[in-house]
Amino acid sequence: MSPDTFPIAVLASGTGSNLQAILDTVHGRDGIEVVAVGSNVADAPALERARRAGVETAAFPLADHSDRAARDTALADWIEGRGARLVVLAGYMQLLTPSFLARFPLGVVNVHPALLPAFPGLRAVEQALAHGVRVFGVTVHFVDEGVDTGPIILQRAVELPHAREAGEVFEQIHAIEHALLPEAIRLIARGAVRIDPADPRRVLLDR
Ligand code: GRF
Repeated sequence: MSPDTFPIAVLASGTGSNLQAILDTVHGRDGIEVVAVGSNVADAPALERARRAGVETAAFPLADHSDRAARDTALADWIEGRGARLVVLAGYMQLLTPSFLARFPLGVVNVHPALLPAFPGLRAVEQALAHGVRVFGVTVHFVDEGVDTGPIILQRAVELPHAREAGEVFEQIHAIEHALLPEAIRLIARGAVRIDPADPRRVLLDR
């Protein structure tokens, strides 16, 4: 790999439509290479998508390790061994341990299907619907030790004042995610994303 490439790892637990968007629109362009796709689920469809794209994969089910700390150490070793400079959580449904995060400072990002800080955690779209919101959206953020609490990199909203079913919201949310997460990766890869030295909560973008 040439020195100006930007190798990334992606972690996914499920379908992997966000991974697919990364493979289709980011991988192999502007020096960005997906070098590893990992999962906590051995038969996650996301792993098959990666294999089809010729990307190395590995599964780290919790049951194969003594505890979460041991699993995350093995996962971090594997990612580091592939040379990744950024870890992208694309539907990775496990919390990462603080020691995993410490090995990738400002090097882990996540996509969340709500406008954070509203509706963190699981079933965000369902939470938003139950609350009766009229504006939904997507957030890409750095991962810290909290649940969906890290500094926000990009957000995009969509007005759906008449939405009643999660399915119709997800259709719009996924389309936004598939654009926003690749956009964030491109910005990070070209060094255009940094934390405001005056305010560690705020992300500065050089667009
Ligand atoms: C996405 O909606 C993402 O926001 C959430 O998990 C979902 C993953 O979808 N964190 P997919 O597996 O990428 O299709």
